[in-house]
Amino acid sequence: MSDRPEMFEGTERIWMDGEFVDFEDAQTHVLTHALHYGTGVFEGVRCYDTEQGPAIFRWEEHLDRLYKSAKPYDLDIEFTKDELTEATTELIASEGFESCYIRPIVYYGFDSLGVSPKDCPTKTTIAAWPWGAYLGEEALEEGVDVMVSSWRKHASSQIPTNIKTTGLYVNSMLAGEEARRNGYTEAIVLNKEGNVAEGPGENIFMVRDGEIYTPGLAESILEGITRNTAITLAEEMGYTVHEEATISRGELYTADELFFTGTAAEVTPIRSVDDNEIGEGTKGPVTDELQSAFFDVIESGDREEWFHYV
Ligand SMILES: Cc1ncc(COP(=O)(O)O)c(C=O)c1O
Repeated sequence: MSDRPEMFEGTERIWMDGEFVDFEDAQTHVLTHALHYGTGVFEGVRCYDTEQGPAIFRWEEHLDRLYKSAKPYDLDIEFTKDELTEATTELIASEGFESCYIRPIVYYGFDSLGVSPKDCPTKTTIAAWPWGAYLGEEALEEGVDVMVSSWRKHASSQIPTNIKTTGLYVNSMLAGEEARRNGYTEAIVLNKEGNVAEGPGENIFMVRDGEIYTPGLAESILEGITRNTAITLAEEMGYTVHEEATISRGELYTADELFFTGTAAEVTPIRSVDDNEIGEGTKGPVTDELQSAFFDVIESGDREEWFHYV
């Protein structure tokens, strides 16, 4: 175990194609189609230690998105949703995790290395490991400094951007690393038209004059599940949410508040964009209210339709 990266120290087994295998044995062939061509689809899910015990947040929605992601690539998942659910809950329980991050991935394995995956097997794997705040604990309180990336998002006419394909994350990596190289915590990526799309691993929201705006699906964004959670909570709190907004780059700089949402990033305030302070340069009041509502749901676990108890 000692030569493993720190975040995987606590993981004993990984579920692969119907079996639990030891961490060290969870291997795939170097000629795997997905390694060469990015032909995998995946999910990032969190299991929270709620007052009612460990529970997977919005599991059904994540599973639905995994199957939807597989569809355009003709990836035929050989397991039913119930089988993947059982494998996941058994994995979490056997590892003894109270909270963790869950990573299901489905991809084309090895057959021939033609671009056509026609005879490649479909491989399905689920791993889980403990993972804290993605952009840091401080980020949730103080907000993050971000830059608008020089990289544009793929257009949704070039590759489906609403679903979660491994190959898409080359763009996310370029944008995120560009930001970090320049001293920022994260990037904002514009779409081909030059309007705001999202973060490399987050959706984005803007608050202006007490109303909430977030780019629509046609703006080349992932159909984020935390985005949906934030919209639902904000509407319940009485806010008007414009969920099909087109947001120009300039509007970012003059926004009253901005925040990211995502399974990993949860609800993270943005305190500056390209060194321009947003609002008071700290977590804004609407972001604060929404973030509190989000963590109240997570901690209590009492919104049953959103939790799958382990
Ligand atoms: C590109 C991108 N946008 C948005 C999100 C947020 O989606 P979700 O809230 O479903 O995690 C993610 C994270 O999965 C992402 O990778």
